[in-house]
Amino acid sequence: MSASLVTYAPEAPEHDAAIEAINEEAFGPGRFARAAYKIREAGGHDAAFSFVALQDGEVIASVRQTPVVAGKGRALLLGPLAVRPDHKSQGHGRKLVGIALDAARAAGAPAVLLVGDEPYYGPLGFRKVPRGRLTLPRPVDPERLLVCELAEGGAEVLAGEVIHARQTSR
Ligand SMILES: CC(C)(COP(=O)(O)OP(=O)(O)OC[C@H]1O[C@@H](n2cnc3c(N)ncnc32)[C@H](O)[C@@H]1OP(=O)(O)O)[C@@H](O)C(=O)NCCC(=O)NCCS
Repeated sequence: MSASLVTYAPEAPEHDAAIEAINEEAFGPGRFARAAYKIREAGGHDAAFSFVALQDGEVIASVRQTPVVAGKGRALLLGPLAVRPDHKSQGHGRKLVGIALDAARAAGAPAVLLVGDEPYYGPLGFRKVPRGRLTLPRPVDPERLLVCELAEGGAEVLAGEVIHARQTSR
């Protein structure tokens, strides 16, 4: 493994193929059946809130975020987050989550939602959504539905079905 510098940058179109390969490697074809994927495919992620880690010009990790609404609330849905196997446990996952949260906060997003492991995301500011408060288009283990509140009341106002923000006019 090279020790050359890792930098973090907003996602750009030239990163698309590498990000797709990283997500295939991390999640396999099963990712297309996930609830979060179903929401993202309704309108796509927002590159302005999505970031990559780069080493020697190569994408070694990626995080994406997608604007969603639920009831009267709005949020960013964080994910997928994936790090190339040779680069795991070097803090890149945590760093990308931090950058994503900072960007969300700076843009006035009231909350960030995700489906993931609480032992990993808990120390990064996420907590479990109260059981039954939110529904996704596919079943999700309620223990893995997590929220990070960025503005006071931003988590509580999220209720009901989580949909892509572009679907609000339906
Ligand atoms: C999960 C993932 C993004 C973490 O990225 P990373 O850069 O390796 O993680 P970091 O360096 O920020 O943190 C490493 C720590 O997180 C822990 N960790 C990793 N995955 C974890 C999980 N699912 N639950 C709890 N802890 C986890 C590691 O054991 C390590 O602990 P340590 O610091 O005590 O050694 C990465 O392992 C990955 O791409 N996994 C496959 C895809 C995936 O599961 N993504 C998350 C979907 S919600």
